[in-house]
Amino acid sequence: MSLRPLESDPATLQQAISELDDATGRSRLSALASELIRHNRLYHELDAAEIDDRTYDLLYRELELLEARFPDAVPPDSPTRRVGGAPVSELEPFEHRVPMLSLANAFSAEELQEFDARIKRFLGDDAPEVIDYLLEPKLDGLAAELIYEDGVLVGAGTRGDGLVGEDILHNALTIRDVPLRLEGPPPTRLSVRGEIFFGLAEFEQMNEARVAGGEKAFENPRNAAAGTIRQLDPRIAAARPLTFFAHSFGEVEGAEAMQSQHAQLERIGAWGLPVNPLNRVCSGIEEVIEGIEALGAQRNDLTYEIDGAVVKVDAIALQEQLGALTRTPRWAIAFKYPPEQVTTVLEDIGFQVGRTGAITPVAHLAPVRVGGVTVSRATLHNADQIVVLDLRIGDTVVIQRAGDVIPKVVRVVADEGHDERPVSVFPTHCPECSASLVRDPDKAVIRCPNPISCPAQLTAAVLHFASRRAMDIDGLGSKLVDQLVGRKLVTRVSDLYQLTHAQLSGLDRMGSRSADNLIAALESSRGRPLERCLTALGIPEVGEATARDLANHFRSLDALIEADRAQLLEVHGVGAVVAERVIAFFGDPRSREEIERLRRAGVCFPDLPGVADPGAQPAGATEAAHLTGKTFVITGTLPTLQRDDARARIVAAGGKVTGSVSSKTSFLIAGEKAGSKLTKARQLGVAILDEAQLLQLLQPPAPAPGPSPPKT
Ligand code: IVH
Repeated sequence: MSLRPLESDPATLQQAISELDDATGRSRLSALASELIRHNRLYHELDAAEIDDRTYDLLYRELELLEARFPDAVPPDSPTRRVGGAPVSELEPFEHRVPMLSLANAFSAEELQEFDARIKRFLGDDAPEVIDYLLEPKLDGLAAELIYEDGVLVGAGTRGDGLVGEDILHNALTIRDVPLRLEGPPPTRLSVRGEIFFGLAEFEQMNEARVAGGEKAFENPRNAAAGTIRQLDPRIAAARPLTFFAHSFGEVEGAEAMQSQHAQLERIGAWGLPVNPLNRVCSGIEEVIEGIEALGAQRNDLTYEIDGAVVKVDAIALQEQLGALTRTPRWAIAFKYPPEQVTTVLEDIGFQVGRTGAITPVAHLAPVRVGGVTVSRATLHNADQIVVLDLRIGDTVVIQRAGDVIPKVVRVVADEGHDERPVSVFPTHCPECSASLVRDPDKAVIRCPNPISCPAQLTAAVLHFASRRAMDIDGLGSKLVDQLVGRKLVTRVSDLYQLTHAQLSGLDRMGSRSADNLIAALESSRGRPLERCLTALGIPEVGEATARDLANHFRSLDALIEADRAQLLEVHGVGAVVAERVIAFFGDPRSREEIERLRRAGVCFPDLPGVADPGAQPAGATEAAHLTGKTFVITGTLPTLQRDDARARIVAAGGKVTGSVSSKTSFLIAGEKAGSKLTKARQLGVAILDEAQLLQLLQPPAPAPGPSPPKT
């Protein structure tokens, strides 16, 4: 389970930390560092954040304070030493010539005053009496860099770890606000940084359309932006209304030097790049504090989401004198607003059964606007919260939203009616299958102990199995799964592969054509690569990233099944909890039987080439790794292979598959309706192959002849 912050108020953290004894403090430091590495990965690499921004900020601050108290215990890979996350492999890497830094946070007026005092101390005699600051809204989107050469947009990358991000030019080109050519006399080279984001109205509209089309709604505008900009196919970004605000320079060549941050932003604006009109220069930190309050009061009326304000020393000469620490400049700070709170009425409490049987109470609320979006549901996390908050149906409650669309219930507003309302009780039996619920021994989680026949768990497991990042079975949406489970056509996941055309075409909203399509989708899912099969199994605590680590390490399902605790702990990213879950999962005869049934149904769980060796490069020294060092891009529709399968086979042969064509691409695999990638490959002289040629290339080379027999 995720670590929770020690304190919910940053102001009292220091005190709480100083009260920890040494051993507790040190062990908390180490646990926090690992936990934040995990959250960084979920957020930056997988677009699957588990905690809201506020919680992240609190945990991060706690880690900073603990590291200040125990400097000898700072792990070398501590998140306080790194910016953002490592780039994901499918997009081309994008190097930042000038590192993209992050910002330190401030949560109160006192911390801003301290920031001002620190700057003055650092500047010493050079410090002006009153420092001018540029105050800018802090957009909650995705940081990106755009490169213009002679006024033409030639590059775009995400921040990544600050030094190397991912190439997103193909998607940046589709953003209407991003000029493809600068206005006026352009600099010879410009790298400009800013935030890519969705406006709130556009976000809500897009989500409504997604839900109407049977897709899952995005959790918040920032996730949606991150998920969109990192798509391989630019048509997805083109169809979504992303926007951009520029907020700083990386480097500029061939333009007159500018003396201040605000002059830089004006110049950026004059070149035709969008700059936030709410940016303003403030004289001294007190004016900054007033400006932040005023911006906070305006926050709910903005057409986009902000999570704070950025305060920057305006004079470039002072910025240069101040310089930067490892990951943050000394001349700028991000003020984070406390999460916005509103009151509404608790209309009901529902109980949802998750994939692992955990029962989550959900508050049903009278719809209310908070942080620019309308909400009618709030999570209650666990059973204890109903008791601790003493929530009763009909109560007026305070809710807060911190980045996510689904807010939290903070407390009940005392009113006269509260005592007369019946106390809410947690069900003793599963609302879906009536099994007696059990409480996890060490956790506040209450579970339905019936993974096999609880229809809610089965439905969730089937949907997870079929999801895009697992077996990617197109057409298996929630309405259909409800019917399959409801009619007992599917009583365990492996039954999917036994479904017949007659069974499927008889279901609501399923014609003969859809039944054919689903059977074809099931058929092609049988060959999914090992990592996806592992994700699909739904082993508790094993998400997509861990599944990939396990597959790369063990290289076959059987090796993983046989692994003991010590071997599991050798895997990068696997800790004690994950190891325990994996062992428990494969130790359960029900899971083993299900794996056997999947195998008998043709699901291959394909081995990766090479032996299990943590040090070995995937497919390192084997004969099958003959494509090592070769980079492929796949485009268009291939006649027989699914893209995923083509990718898996290339990777299995040692090659790498990326999303965009560059001079480093070795081969473009082009199918029908190949578009701009084909054009680009031709321009760059990249070798272009069709599917048949790819299949030929995938054949391992004939073994080298052995030593010649001795001549007689
Ligand atoms: S300036 C060295 N200005 O906040 C200066 N950043 O935690 C670096 N952000 O990833 C950034 N609005 O993308 C700056 N007006 C603004 C911003 C802003 C949002 C993001 C930025 C960075 C993060 C820093």
